[in-house]
Amino acid sequence: MASSMFFTIICAALLLCSSLAYAQKATPPAPTPTPAPAPAPTYVNLTDLLSVAGPFQTFLGYLESTKVIDTFQNQANNTDEGITIFVPKDAAFSSLKKPSLSNLTQDQLKSLILFHALPHYYSLADFKNLSQMDPISTFAGGQYTLNFTDVSGTVLLDSGWSRTKVSSSVHSTDPVAVYQVDKVLLPEAIFGTDIPPMPAPAPAPEISPAADTPSSVADKGSSPATSAPNSSNSNINLGIFTQLVLAVSGGLALLL
Ligand SMILES: *[C@@H]1O[C@H](CO)[C@@H](O)[C@H](O)[C@H]1NC(C)=O
Ligand SMILES: *[C@@H]1O[C@H](CO)[C@@H](O)[C@H](O)[C@H]1NC(C)=O
Ligand SMILES: *[C@@H]1O[C@H](CO)[C@@H](O)[C@H](O)[C@H]1NC(C)=O
Ligand SMILES: *[C@@H]1O[C@H](CO)[C@@H](O)[C@H](O)[C@H]1NC(C)=O
Ligand SMILES: *[C@@H]1O[C@H](CO)[C@@H](O)[C@H](O)[C@H]1NC(C)=O
Ligand SMILES: *[C@@H]1O[C@H](CO)[C@@H](O)[C@H](O)[C@H]1NC(C)=O
Repeated sequence: MASSMFFTIICAALLLCSSLAYAQKATPPAPTPTPAPAPAPTYVNLTDLLSVAGPFQTFLGYLESTKVIDTFQNQANNTDEGITIFVPKDAAFSSLKKPSLSNLTQDQLKSLILFHALPHYYSLADFKNLSQMDPISTFAGGQYTLNFTDVSGTVLLDSGWSRTKVSSSVHSTDPVAVYQVDKVLLPEAIFGTDIPPMPAPAPAPEISPAADTPSSVADKGSSPATSAPNSSNSNINLGIFTQLVLAVSGGLALLL
């Protein structure tokens, strides 16, 4: 009995090896080299991008209700300049008490949303330069400007009403950059320059991790779903092999 078990196992192992070898041989060699791929237009669906990251539902809602999403998407699609968007998380909107957005006219709301983007693609490294060029015009144009400061890699933004920082990079591939910011950017052009004093002095950003790594864990991990490698095929094949081997060896065991 022991020897038949042994035999079965050997058989199974041999079968498995040969079928794996066969599988390897059977995989066709890469056919004729694929023609040079046409430079794929790097299309980023901003709605999709903002739906999966964040949560940015409030900002996305405003983007859609004001139709600014079309302006941004068009800029992302069709210009060499590209676009840089600063997106506050839902929590930034819900914690916004003092100047409320509820009294804004539709035009003001639209300007406020446009204020959250620059009509040019900037990598995080580019902000070193921008900080020497204050103030920077936003998509809202005119007096809707932002000031940038680069403190050893951390990008600080100042709208007068809002002082905040880029807390993570959601997407940054030319022509589209999307950065998460901690606060809603409130423009002086809407709320005036009569800015109430800051409640507490902004803590100096001492820790300046690479902006891609969210600095605080509590700050909600916006980890992108790691796409599983495309291995389902080989898994299925292995499954079939295993079943085959089991069936065959089962049959052998019965015979012996
Ligand atoms: C972008 O994604 C949204 C949400 O998935 C979808 O409704 C929309 O049709 C997409 N837009 C384009 C131009 O593909
Ligand atoms: C952007 O490009 C996509 C894909 O080419 C297209 O479906 C969409 O309509 C374009 N959107 C705008 C606003 O240009
Ligand atoms: C918004 O409008 C309401 C009613 O018109 C008013 O009572 C309230 O003070 C306004 N809020 C702000 C922030 O202006
Ligand atoms: C930054 O500014 C310097 C000098 O003004 C310029 O040479 C350099 O190209 C700029 N870099 C970027 C990324 O714009
Ligand atoms: C931005 O910088 C300019 C020039 O340094 C300054 O005049 C302006 O007051 C700044 N604006 C804000 C909102 O800090
Ligand atoms: C996985 O591979 C199959 C067949 O090779 C392909 O059709 C499918 O699009 C791939 N899926 C992903 C997520 O790459």
